[in-house]
Amino acid sequence: MTELEHKQDRAPVPAGWDYAPAPEARDIVQLEERYGLFVGGELVEPRSGEWFPTLSPATEEPLAQVALAGAEDVALAVDAAREALEGEWAKTTPSERAKYLYRIARILQERSREFAVLESLNGGKPIKESRDVDLPLAAAHFFYYAGWADKLEYAFPNRKPRPVGVCGQIIPWNFPLLMLAWKIAPALAAGNTVVLKPAETTPLTALLFCDVVRQAELPPGVVNIVTGDGSTGAHLVKHTGVDKIAFTGSTEVGKAIQRELAGTGKKLTLELGGKAANIVFDDAALDQAVEGIVNGIYFNQGHVCCAGSRLFVQESIYEPALAKLKRRMATLRVGDPLDKNTDVGAINSRMQLEKIQELVEAGKDEGAEIYQPPCRLPEKGYWFVPTVFTNVAQSYRIAQEEIFGPVLSVLTFRTPDEAVEKANNTPYGLSAGVWTEKGSRILSMASKLRAGVIWANTYNRFDPTSPFGGYKESGFGREGGLHGLGPYLRFDE
Ligand code: NAI
Ligand code: MG
Repeated sequence: MTELEHKQDRAPVPAGWDYAPAPEARDIVQLEERYGLFVGGELVEPRSGEWFPTLSPATEEPLAQVALAGAEDVALAVDAAREALEGEWAKTTPSERAKYLYRIARILQERSREFAVLESLNGGKPIKESRDVDLPLAAAHFFYYAGWADKLEYAFPNRKPRPVGVCGQIIPWNFPLLMLAWKIAPALAAGNTVVLKPAETTPLTALLFCDVVRQAELPPGVVNIVTGDGSTGAHLVKHTGVDKIAFTGSTEVGKAIQRELAGTGKKLTLELGGKAANIVFDDAALDQAVEGIVNGIYFNQGHVCCAGSRLFVQESIYEPALAKLKRRMATLRVGDPLDKNTDVGAINSRMQLEKIQELVEAGKDEGAEIYQPPCRLPEKGYWFVPTVFTNVAQSYRIAQEEIFGPVLSVLTFRTPDEAVEKANNTPYGLSAGVWTEKGSRILSMASKLRAGVIWANTYNRFDPTSPFGGYKESGFGREGGLHGLGPYLRFDE
């Protein structure tokens, strides 16, 4: 270590830094008491007659009642999507389709503060992330796919691309609006119609999006949104009028959907979990790498399928790396998602909190060493302190299973080959990170790591032009880029 690094390691953590509260105003969001289902361009009462509350995970305050769609409701939404597919949407020229997508993108930009506040309120993520990441990326997705809508013949020359038909799309709660954008933008660009089901804990931005769809004057039935739980999702998967299912969520449900669809001829893409390796070599710029480690696992409370949840540090720099990481962790501000200074917000649901707690207990029982910075948590709501485990063996549950929370497992390696072998020792294969000064090492690692997305000297970077998706139990099919259009098209071979 250099002398400067020694000095920095001894410098006290600035624990006395208190930030004045900087809450984002909530009044831009107008909540309804209850929300129906968006079918054929209208919000309608559910035939099921069932409703459920949705709340703020930071305060447990109920925000609204949301419809729980049953089989009949799902069928009505699929019928509306079919009618639009064969009716007005079929007559809409590709360049007109592009105009609708551009319109949606611009409306999302105009209303971005409203969406960002609602996203943080309903999902618990820090406002600085919903404002600076989720919203800009959601709009960028619509802009990007708008550009392809009238160029499909060029994108897939001589293959006569046609829409697949009615697409059933099921999304999770970690990036509610962004996952909606990932699903709806390419589907519409390719000329399909959709029935989308948001996750049960985060339906509100999808319901606000219905308003955007109306504002953009999209023909009724092109986008339908049915709220509900896993049973609603299952009805959508089973419905014979659906031509394609796109699912993002747990590996367990992904496998069940794949079994259900086997032999039906329905198209399927799955984006499932991950247990990514973030690999730091001894020649990496260490401060930068520490920022990348923190971003990799504590961004969005670790509710990220591509989170860098397994940190591999080269043995020769293990001690300085850990010292710097712990110092950095002590500066993370955990608390009110609507406060602009907050780094780590609320855990999305009680269920998810319990899952994190269970795995953290397992880590302690198996013999790993836990570190959590001193941290005062709010009394109400669902919270978990940013956590790092050292002394982790490859076989421990915390090194094998997806925790989907702010919990990092640290392992070490000596040689690049050992890093590759350990990193690939997982049933998943969604993403990985490599930190090194050597370009040749980046290329060699990228070719050996079995992961769909590999970041070099950065982490959790997303761009609509870049395909995203996994290997092995992380699923199949790509979202984003040209690759993301393929699953929404049929070709005359
Ligand atoms: P989940 O897979 O149950 O939920 C995701 C979506 O699928 C939700 O909209 C849900 O209503 C729906 N769904 C649930 N059961 C279904 C079924 N049988 N048929 C059709 N749709 C169904 O995920 P959950 O329970 O919320 O989280 C469990 C774990 O899954 C997390 O702890 C995390 O490890 C992982 N996960 C991974 C995500 C990713 O981005 N890859 C996102 C969410 C969860
Ligand atoms: Mg589940």
